[in-house]
Amino acid sequence: MGSVSEKIKQLQEKQKKLLAMGGPEKIEAQHKAGKLTARERLNLLFDNGFYDELYGFVEHECTKFGLAEKEFPADGVVTAIGAISGRPVCVASQDFTVMGGSVGWKHAWKISEIAQQAYKNGIPLITINDSGGARIQEGVDSLRGYGTIFYNNTLLSGLVPQIAIISGPCAGGAAYSPALMDFIIMVKGSGKMFITGPDVIKEVTGREIDVEELGGAIAHATKSGNIHFVAENDEEAIEICKKLLSYIPNNNTEDPPYEPKEELELVEDEFLNTLLPDDPTIPYDMRILLERVFDKDSILEVQKDFAQNIIIAFARLNGRSVGVVANQPNYLAGCLDIDSSDKAARFIRFCNAFNIPIITFTDTPGFMPGIEQEYGGIIRHGAKMLFAYSAATVPKITVITRKAYGGAYLAMCAKSLGADRVAAWPTAEIAVMGAEGAVSVLYKKEIQKAADPTQKRKELIEEYRNEFATPYQAAKKGMVDAVIEPKFTRNYISIALESCTTKRELRPQKKHGLIPL
Ligand code: HXC
Repeated sequence: MGSVSEKIKQLQEKQKKLLAMGGPEKIEAQHKAGKLTARERLNLLFDNGFYDELYGFVEHECTKFGLAEKEFPADGVVTAIGAISGRPVCVASQDFTVMGGSVGWKHAWKISEIAQQAYKNGIPLITINDSGGARIQEGVDSLRGYGTIFYNNTLLSGLVPQIAIISGPCAGGAAYSPALMDFIIMVKGSGKMFITGPDVIKEVTGREIDVEELGGAIAHATKSGNIHFVAENDEEAIEICKKLLSYIPNNNTEDPPYEPKEELELVEDEFLNTLLPDDPTIPYDMRILLERVFDKDSILEVQKDFAQNIIIAFARLNGRSVGVVANQPNYLAGCLDIDSSDKAARFIRFCNAFNIPIITFTDTPGFMPGIEQEYGGIIRHGAKMLFAYSAATVPKITVITRKAYGGAYLAMCAKSLGADRVAAWPTAEIAVMGAEGAVSVLYKKEIQKAADPTQKRKELIEEYRNEFATPYQAAKKGMVDAVIEPKFTRNYISIALESCTTKRELRPQKKHGLIPL
């Protein structure tokens, strides 16, 4: 039996080993690779670099391959609770310096346990992924561990926000944990995600591709749409993570963080009256509108480089956190296609799950025509938007700036999908289809018979446009609540949003709806 001071010393010795993780050589290699260690990442993430470490002394149980005698500090993953901007958050940070951050049974158990802390306490879960994948020596025990992580990610889904930072390899089935979470931030260069790597792809398909092109941050940000943010390095990834959290509540029972202002900041923005070109076929940048409507520098765009025909973003309006969905006329004319529908539908569901009001800006000529789109299932994917908006019970406010045709008009949160407030600019064209298409169907014979068919068609198009491609048919029927001058857009949305913050919409309980997946 030692003295108290001896016992404290013994604890300090153990803690020292724990803090040293894989040791100086491995840490140096990690730094040389441009990466931070698990603990360095936590120091940056948490307020004052301080955190409570949980399960630090948990040890692996593998006896095969001579591992019985080997110690692996923290079993390669630091699990901790700390504060970010004063709010408690659970984090699992894998450490590549210990066995390549590989996932054995106890490593996985620790991640699952910290996820349970998030689940029980209603606080966000962040994982920082930097791992060689399943710990090969542990065989099926490792698979069992991954299973428990996936199960916990699913339990947490919709209850607490889950954010994954990919700071190193995250390959094979391991990539499914981030995929089950809400947002993925990936570090350029060091972050890699793929289900099968270049060698297997070459063996099976004969096609060659390098690791970066296959599973690097840019590939996922632009092609697969698997990730939401790209960071230059670990430090930036952590900054993005903190910023993202600032828009989101701790759990589904809370409202997002909000610092009330004394009064609404209302402005008449004359510039907006000049934003749209006179010719409705000429595009404009929707981002300019968003920047002028929302609080200064408050926009955080999500999946910026994927399906750029739709913009999704967090923003603030008079300090209130909102989700923004907006067609981008500058890209594919702002049409809705498979990828943009998936992108927007998922974001709408996130906002709804976490009580974040949704502001929608509509300028879309319709769903994208094309054989690839039809065969790719645009019907199923487009339906996700209709489903997501209809199912969302958070405040929903829509502004129609220009084109709003057919099903795509509905899919951008029309009144009949439950929008609480719809405003249209005088330039809005709300109709069942575009003038050119409508005239071809309605006046086919008349055009054929006309002395000058081209001239006749032109006249009919003009006539149809003047009569139907306006906001007033819809306004007459109460499908838009107000036709407003563009310069009053911020004011209109501000008051609408304030009036909806106490919105209650109760629907019958059910296990879950069946969104077309
Ligand atoms: C055990 C591992 C390991 C793993 C790395 N290490 N991955 N140990 N199981 N999966 C160990 C290495 O042996 C080495 O130990 C140390 O970690 C650092 O690894 P290096 O190879 O030296 O690092 P580097 O050169 O940077 O290469 C990183 C790497 C490579 C590309 C990730 O380590 C690698 O290919 N690892 C194996 C990847 C893999 O096949 N994983 C299993 C996939 S199956 P020492 O002692 O030398 O320091 C899978 C199924 C999951 O994940 C299914 C879930 C549903």
